[in-house]
Amino acid sequence: MTRWTEADIPDQAERTVLITGANSGLGMQTATALAARGATVVLACRDSQRGRAALDRVRAGTGGSDATLVQLDLADLTSVRKAADEVRAITGDRLDVLVNNAGVMAAPPRRTVDGFELQIGTNHLGHAALTWLLAPALLPGARVVTVSSLAHRGGGLDVDDLNFERRPYRPVTAYSASKLANLLFTFELDRRVRAAGRDLLAVAAHPGLTDTELVANTTRMLAPGPVAQLVKWGNKLITQGVQAGALPQLYAITAADVHGGEYFGPTALGETRGAPGRVTPSLAARHERMAKLLWKVTAELTGVPPDPA
Ligand SMILES: NC(=O)c1ccc[n+]([C@@H]2O[C@H](COP(=O)([O-])OP(=O)(O)OC[C@H]3O[C@@H](n4cnc5c(N)ncnc54)[C@H](OP(=O)(O)O)[C@@H]3O)[C@@H](O)[C@H]2O)c1
Repeated sequence: MTRWTEADIPDQAERTVLITGANSGLGMQTATALAARGATVVLACRDSQRGRAALDRVRAGTGGSDATLVQLDLADLTSVRKAADEVRAITGDRLDVLVNNAGVMAAPPRRTVDGFELQIGTNHLGHAALTWLLAPALLPGARVVTVSSLAHRGGGLDVDDLNFERRPYRPVTAYSASKLANLLFTFELDRRVRAAGRDLLAVAAHPGLTDTELVANTTRMLAPGPVAQLVKWGNKLITQGVQAGALPQLYAITAADVHGGEYFGPTALGETRGAPGRVTPSLAARHERMAKLLWKVTAELTGVPPDPA
């Protein structure tokens, strides 16, 4: 089989795609590639200045495409609700794809506005709430694509203690837990839309190891200054470029042969790089009882009613 590339993305002229964290790294690459194929992209970014710069870049790269910007801070449920309302208004409840891409990795002990541990709060709870709030806007045939990580294999998810209140906080464990939560949520969403007879694909993707701002953002939180710069350059030695890293999610968003519940990633060198393809999640990510429990706890913590229920 020939290697799938951006050139294989089918025409996206009729599709509207919302991408979280679209001002940087994989989100920016995804938005640019989709806009270049004619998609109407909605960039959901937490910082309005960085968001506007991203919007300019997407528009410039596509000769003035139909891109819009929405302010979204996933670490603040009030912002998530406001953004969802705005997206529903902008799109007229006609959304083809929601890409839950934004993320923060291995952060020091920090809390979201609502008091959740920062990584589970941003990477999982904020995205789950956004997904449920936007469910009425998703058109028949729509896709929800959530970006997970190889790090989901680290486990560490304790559904009874999502916010590390009863155990010592470990930044890497908290990241793994949030990325495992992304997969459990995706597969539970897939089961529920099937049971409800909804025409919706819930799928996941991961980028292997990709050169983005993710590691730099972590080091900036831990040790700002020259150390962050050193780590940034070191990271370049072990990662693939962002164009390659975005391919699994672009495949999940656009390829015709995608089915609900599938997971895509790079297929070479232990899924760290290479051509995009179907990959296998850990056994923990397929744990149905855990997924049901997470779904319930997520609804309780966010106060957002699940959809489908
Ligand atoms: N790069 C990799 O090797 C790798 C590997 C596995 C998985 N991933 C996953 O890939 C996804 C994209 O990350 P990336 O590698 O492209 O990193 P990135 O360049 O740091 O981009 C992350 C994006 O998420 C946004 N974000 C962070 N916190 C947010 C919040 N509270 N509300 C809204 N947006 C927020 C960032 O906004 P700001 O610019 O405002 O910070 C940025 O736009 C993440 O889910 C990450 O876990 C990446």
